[in-house]
Amino acid sequence: MAAELIDGKGFAARIRDDIKRGVDQRTRRGLRRPGLAVILVGDDPASKVYVGHKRNDCEQVGIESQVLELPFSTTEAEVLHHIDEYNADPSVDGILVQLPLPRHVDSTRVIERIRPDKDVDGFHPYNIGRLVQRIPALRPCTPFGVIRLLESIGEPFKERDAVVVGASNIVGRPMALELLLAGATVTVCHRFTRDTEAHVRQADLVVVGVGKPGLVKGEWIKEGATVIDVGINRMDDGRLVGDVEFDVARERAAWITPVPGGVGPMTRAMLLQNTLDAARHHDG
Ligand code: GUN
Repeated sequence: MAAELIDGKGFAARIRDDIKRGVDQRTRRGLRRPGLAVILVGDDPASKVYVGHKRNDCEQVGIESQVLELPFSTTEAEVLHHIDEYNADPSVDGILVQLPLPRHVDSTRVIERIRPDKDVDGFHPYNIGRLVQRIPALRPCTPFGVIRLLESIGEPFKERDAVVVGASNIVGRPMALELLLAGATVTVCHRFTRDTEAHVRQADLVVVGVGKPGLVKGEWIKEGATVIDVGINRMDDGRLVGDVEFDVARERAAWITPVPGGVGPMTRAMLLQNTLDAARHHDG
C-alpha cells in the first residue's frame, strides 16, 4: 500500500496562522512587533531566493524584517560589526546570517558572535549545548520542524529505532539530538559509515539530510516505516527532488514527506516561531 504523504506545506500554513495570531495579540496589548534582521553576504542565487522567502513569510505574519545585503568583498570584521549592532538593538529579536558565507569569512566566529537569545537559527554552541542537555532554548529550525511534523502524525518516538542519514551541523547532528530528546533510539550514518543500507533497512523512522538525489534507495525502506526527506536537489530538467528514491520508498513506507512541500515549509515556519519566542523572551 502506498504511504500517506505528510503535508508539510499545509501544516506550516496552519502554524503561520497561529504565529500571526500571536503577533496580533502582542500589538493589541501595546507590545512591539517581533523583529528579524537577516544578513546576506555575496550574491549566491539560491541564498537570495531563500532570503526572499523569509522576508515574505515575515510580512505575512506581521514580523518586522530587515535584510542587510552586503557585497561578496565584505570582511569578517565588518560582518561582526553588523552583528554587534543588531545584538545591541532592542527592536531586533532575531539575527540570521544566511549560509554559506564567502570563504574568507569564518562562519563559526560569525555564529558565535550572535547573542544566543537572538540566535533564531539555533546554531550557536550555547543553543546546541542546551539541546544536548535536554533543556532546549532556541532550536535549529529544520530539526524542530521535523519533530513538529512527526508529532502531527502521532509518531510514537519512544518505541522507535530512528536512523539519521547525514551528520551536518544544520540538519543531521541537531536532528539526532531532537530525536533523542523525544525518546527515540538513534543511529547516525555519515560518510564514514560502513553500511548505511543495513542501518536504514532496520529503521522504523528514517530522516535523510545529505543533499544527494537518490542516496537512499526506495527498497532499503522497511515496510511501514516513516520517511522524512530533508534533501532539496535541483535536477538538470528543473525538477526538485529529495535524497530518497521517492516512488519506490512510497510503496513501502507508511508515511513519507514529499519534496517539495514536506520539510522545507516547516523550516521556514520554525524560523518565525523562534522569532516570536525570542520576542516573548525579550519582553521579560
Ligand atoms: N542556508 C541553508 N540553510 C540555512 C539555514 O537554515 N539558516 C541559514 N542561516 N542559512 C542557511
